[in-house]
Amino acid sequence: MSIRVVCQGLSKTFVTRTGRVAALDPIKLDVAPGEFVVLIGASGCGKTTLLRIIGGLDTASSGTIGLAAGMPGRNGIGFVFQQPNLLPWMTVEQNVALPLRLAGMRRAERLDRARALCAMVGIGGFERRWPRELSGGMQQRAAIARALANDPALLLMDEPFGALDALTRARLNAELERIWMATGATVMLVTHSISEAVMLADRIVVMSPRPGRIREIVPVPFARPRPPAIEESGEFQAIAGRLRRLLAPEGLREVTTPALLTHMPADQRDATEGSA
Ligand SMILES: Nc1ncnc2c1ncn2[C@@H]1O[C@H](COP(=O)(O)OP(=O)(O)OP(=O)(O)O)[C@@H](O)[C@H]1O
Ligand SMILES: [Mg+2]
Repeated sequence: MSIRVVCQGLSKTFVTRTGRVAALDPIKLDVAPGEFVVLIGASGCGKTTLLRIIGGLDTASSGTIGLAAGMPGRNGIGFVFQQPNLLPWMTVEQNVALPLRLAGMRRAERLDRARALCAMVGIGGFERRWPRELSGGMQQRAAIARALANDPALLLMDEPFGALDALTRARLNAELERIWMATGATVMLVTHSISEAVMLADRIVVMSPRPGRIREIVPVPFARPRPPAIEESGEFQAIAGRLRRLLAPEGLREVTTPALLTHMPADQRDATEGSA
């Protein structure tokens, strides 16, 4: 199941002790049911704010969000944050089953489902462990399993792999694509990694800083599933280069040419932290 997400004139101003912070300028965005949209932009441009408002964790200052195909309620939305946020006093399967417990599902049934989810995200065999006994990547898989427990129509992911090493991250990208293809959920994912964005997205929403607004929406036409080797292709590199130029601060835009970047190690090419 999946839903369409329509943001119209969405803005957010935070009122703080020291004044007002304009975080989002009117945002207009239409995400199709089952689409995988990636948000990218400099630190502080409002990506988390936008995700939180869409997920109902915060309110907009103006504008509307339509979650078409019926408002799915809290159960219909799964959240994955940068940190796994597992409860340390619960086992992995209890953590994954928590949304089902809150929804009133019976114990045997919810633990069955939690185990199936653990297997799906690749941590089968670790269900009875404590979160602290799992590596960071495994904890993040558990967090994804928990977000999927209610079979959400919309999955919101805020830098879910930001804390992981590049190899684990690449593997989880591939698994996330597989899971997304299996569940058919609409996904909105925030990342600072250009290659992660191009690898995963149907469309990449590039945001500009202060107040955050949509600078450009870049489509990624590659067929699915996308093999890791696709990253070497000229088409992939062309899209990555375009994103890099869109994200570069004004002064850097001139020197950040694809020709120069091809001589740079891939991990350095990926640094997208802006000048916010
Ligand atoms: N609760 C809050 N109170 C006041 N200002 C806030 C609050 N939350 C966010 N902001 C401000 O809103 C702006 C957008 O913040 P947000 O966290 O959405 O950025 P982001 O794009 O997610 O950044 P990052 O990439 O670093 O996670 C920033 O200027 C931030 O300081
Ligand atoms: Mg953020």
